[in-house]
Amino acid sequence: MITIPYLTALSTYFSYGLLFAFGQLRDFFRKIIDWWQSGDLQGYAPICLGLEDFYIRRLYNRIQDCFGRPISSAPDAWFDVVERYSNDNNKTLKRTTKISRCLNLGSYNYLGFAASDEYCTPRAIESLKKFSPSTCSSRVDGGTTTLHKELEECVANFVGKPDAMVTGMGYVTNSAILPVLVGKGGLIISDSLNHNSIVNGARGSGATVRVFQHNTPSHLEKVLREQISEGQPRTHRPWKKIIVIVEGIYSMEGELCQLPEIVAICKKYKAYVYLDEAHSIGAVGKTGRGVCELLGVDTADVDIMMGTFTKSFGSCGGYIAGSKEVIQYLKYTCPAHLYATSVSPPAAQQIISAIKVILGEDGTSRGAQKLARIRENSNFFRSELQKMGFEVLGDNDSPVMPIMLYNPAKIPAFSRECLKQNVAVVTVAFPATPLLLARARICISASHTKEDLLRALEVISRVGDMVGIKYFPAEPSKQETNVIKLE
Ligand SMILES: Cc1ncc(COP(=O)(O)O)c(C=O)c1O
Ligand SMILES: *[C@@H]1O[C@H](CO)[C@@H](O)[C@H](O)[C@H]1NC(C)=O
Repeated sequence: MITIPYLTALSTYFSYGLLFAFGQLRDFFRKIIDWWQSGDLQGYAPICLGLEDFYIRRLYNRIQDCFGRPISSAPDAWFDVVERYSNDNNKTLKRTTKISRCLNLGSYNYLGFAASDEYCTPRAIESLKKFSPSTCSSRVDGGTTTLHKELEECVANFVGKPDAMVTGMGYVTNSAILPVLVGKGGLIISDSLNHNSIVNGARGSGATVRVFQHNTPSHLEKVLREQISEGQPRTHRPWKKIIVIVEGIYSMEGELCQLPEIVAICKKYKAYVYLDEAHSIGAVGKTGRGVCELLGVDTADVDIMMGTFTKSFGSCGGYIAGSKEVIQYLKYTCPAHLYATSVSPPAAQQIISAIKVILGEDGTSRGAQKLARIRENSNFFRSELQKMGFEVLGDNDSPVMPIMLYNPAKIPAFSRECLKQNVAVVTVAFPATPLLLARARICISASHTKEDLLRALEVISRVGDMVGIKYFPAEPSKQETNVIKLE
């Protein structure tokens, strides 16, 4: 749980209150002017309406230069951020031809495969020539190439399950598969901070959805006991099946799942475990096999293993790995397999090649070095940030580390000041996080060098002082040792 400093919470509420009040006031006058100029609405209801519309116009747009910044290179350790300007107070932003070379602390390029790689890139190019950017067909029609078959075998073997199915998009893997796995009369118990793709998949399934407190096994057990004793709504019949859904690493929190405890509880109550490893597969574990390997959980105890190729593997698409029976069933029923175009062949080849490098099947130890590097880099960066007095969320070994900002004014301040000093960071606010809990989310990569990390720490420390987000300052006597200087 995050404990917000009292004054910070107060000032954050106050800031949002002020923004909200002024926004409403401006909308009010706007309405009067619009009504006065033309009352002709042609009988249609406004197409964009409600709090989201208000939030976008009056809050998000004012700091939109901090989001969706176009880049013009691969998302490597350093990348090119395109400079933009505005003639209308940032309401619209126009691209210039100028770029600024920035240290990249925002991409999910955990192992560095998202940039040109001596093993993967030539193979991806070859497959582009041999196949094409697209199969122009779904898997069951003409969209299954030899690469797709190889990829599925490769993934099943890598994650440690009998079989696997791949789809063209990670988001859709969750949102299209959950409705096939469970429906009316079933129960989904979902972590309160699960990704939006899981939330939408669960909603779309028609199953009853219950939420347990984020990463809290004891609360999961409580919810399970309550739900099992109550049964289905109204009829109180037993649930047709129960699926518990968790993530390996929570991408907005940087936390590792309490998987051993959760698996034990699910076994006790005969509930299936569905694990989303989008951020953990390839990134953690001795051989990159994710949280099961890291935390010592037998993959046989996780019924459905889901993951994406968009992070550690530097590609796109998602997978489901499970028993032969489950995968066969999904291939007959899942709309993402039946009705959507299959993974792009060069993207498939990129994944196969990246897995080979990770496993050392390219004949080098580059994969092992990358895995050691991401772990060292992450643990070093996290401990240095903590020493500087930032409020950093998450666990050791996780390459994701959110730095809490809280106050809405600190979101653009932090992002813009870092960018000025050629450090590109991602800031996250509502609706991706609760209103009070805005943060900057640092993602560390194996491709960052020690110099990169020291430079980033130096800039973040300086900007942190300027913006006032060192919520846990060290004692003055220690402060000298907490400053990192780069000559
Ligand atoms: C936990 C989780 N699941 C699924 C996805 C969706 O994956 P993709 O971005 O590959 O569509 C994400 C994306 O960030 C994620 O964090
Ligand atoms: C517009 O964005 C720039 C950064 O791109 C920022 O410096 C400036 O303060 C913003 N202007 C307004 C009115 O918010």
